[in-house]
Amino acid sequence: MHDVGAEADFEVGQPRRVEIGGRGFVVVNGGAEFYAARDVCAHQGARLSSGRCKGNVHAESVGGHIEYQTGGRTLLQCPWHGWIFDMATGRALADPDRARVRVYPVRVTDGRVLLDLG
Ligand code: FES
Repeated sequence: MHDVGAEADFEVGQPRRVEIGGRGFVVVNGGAEFYAARDVCAHQGARLSSGRCKGNVHAESVGGHIEYQTGGRTLLQCPWHGWIFDMATGRALADPDRARVRVYPVRVTDGRVLLDLG
């Protein structure tokens, strides 16, 4: 497990690049869950961390738990040509069987975001 920062430093719905061992990863706080993927688009290699999450912020009450999702999924759009990836699976919505980025499990423990590279 790799500690990539404090949970509070990852704003909901704001992709953030982290580097581990010279490799880049994009981490997204989806509200209910954290997600991580290689920071290299499956199309032509753009940094997905420069993209943006698609969807809406939902909160059940003022000051309550916030989620950033679209139809139950946390989606990230590439900044170059707009491919959209489901952060849970790494699959591109337009071609889920062939276009995908590698995703990694993320856990939050004691306020720290931990990335599992396997
Ligand atoms: S490089 Fe990501 S959609 Fe083209």
